[in-house]
Amino acid sequence: MSKHATTYVPKSAFAKWFESRLPIVGLIHSSFVAFPVPRNLNYWWTFGGVLFFMLVMQIITGVVLAMHYTPNANLAFDSVERIMRDVNYGWLLRYLHANGASMFFVAVYIHIFRNFYYGSYKAPREVLFILGIIIFLLMMATAFMGYVLPWGQMSFWGATVITNLFSAVPIIGDTIVSLLWGGYSVGNPTLNRFFSLHYLLPFMIFGVVILHVWALHVPGNNNPTGIEMKSGKDAVPFHPYMTVKDGFSLVLFLIFFAWWVFYMPNYLGHADNYIPANPSVTPSHIVPEWYFLPFYAILRAVPDKLGGVVAMVAAILIWALVPWLDTSKVRSAVYRPLYRQFFWVWFAVCILLGWLGSKPAEGGYVIAARIATIYYFAHFLIILPLLGLFERPQRMPGSIVESVLGRGAAAPVPAGATAAPQTQG
Ligand code: HEM
Repeated sequence: MSKHATTYVPKSAFAKWFESRLPIVGLIHSSFVAFPVPRNLNYWWTFGGVLFFMLVMQIITGVVLAMHYTPNANLAFDSVERIMRDVNYGWLLRYLHANGASMFFVAVYIHIFRNFYYGSYKAPREVLFILGIIIFLLMMATAFMGYVLPWGQMSFWGATVITNLFSAVPIIGDTIVSLLWGGYSVGNPTLNRFFSLHYLLPFMIFGVVILHVWALHVPGNNNPTGIEMKSGKDAVPFHPYMTVKDGFSLVLFLIFFAWWVFYMPNYLGHADNYIPANPSVTPSHIVPEWYFLPFYAILRAVPDKLGGVVAMVAAILIWALVPWLDTSKVRSAVYRPLYRQFFWVWFAVCILLGWLGSKPAEGGYVIAARIATIYYFAHFLIILPLLGLFERPQRMPGSIVESVLGRGAAAPVPAGATAAPQTQG
């Protein structure tokens, strides 16, 4: 994965024999032990590791849950109740998996906002960033289908509202909806295909994550200054510096996670989902999980159904253009006084959209959602391109080591640090 030659030296006769046939230990060593990372990475750079941990945890808890779950419209709800009451530690598995999905999104949103703040999407990391967007879309599809599986009222009606959106697609819309439903409404065939896809997609996410990390290891990490590494003095080896930092961050994150699981495991869910699905009773207020709310607000802000769907999808796809919409030569918001302010306004607009998504689509809420939606898109299409032309960046340090130790300070080269990439963005 790393483009740096491996410094791994197999010691035993078996290790030499094996390495000459499958050099996987050398690959792991160059990618996750000797790999040079900027010495100034802060804690916002630890969430990639947290995300990886959460992905593995979701897969493990999900596979075990699937051993006890029954994907049948008449049995699904009861099978989940059986997991909660009768299966050994079933309650723990289910709460870990359900709250784990939320924590996964907490971590991914932090990871994404970090990228926007420090300009990590800029060249040469565009492909890495776009792979991240693909992961995010797959995560959303997986989470949506997972929420349908307990077959409660919110599962059923959430599935009905969201699958119906596809009918807005011109010409093939109705065909797509029939394919998703496997019939003429949400029912047993829908539950079956959602279960199948909910099991499949995490493994696809895993595959894209491998590409994501590969694409990261070619240019190496960005860092808070946005200046590329120029010499070995700018770098420290991944192990032990980042393994310890990532590990510490993960422990704190798991404490936060455990607090939800053990003290308020149903807080992020919806009470209506403890009522079995009933096609003849519509809940008074259908709300998606919190992590979908900003996009749900955008969907409902547009008066036209197709327009709403297009805006909602575009709200994510537009990120893929950001490497080119952002015309600034400087990466990090640390040295961009105007972008820094606009970033926080945009962040606040995202939070506002999330709140509006949880409110009924009426009166002032809809008007506010329309204004916020317009601002959301203006941030990317107008503000980012113009800022690069008019903003006067602040003075930047000459190198990463200078930003850490001050000008002229002689930095020791940490043991194990190899010469870092010379590319300058
Ligand atoms: C399962 C989900 C994901 C996993 C496991 C993951 C994993 C990682 C890891 C391990 C890193 C390096 C450490 C770090 O920077 O935190 C990283 C960096 C990065 N990720 Fe992700 N990621 C995920 C989702 C995403 C998403 C959704 C995006 C963007 C929409 C994204 C964009 C990036 C970018 C641009 C970097 C480079 C950051 C830098 O070096 O400054 N990732 N990711």
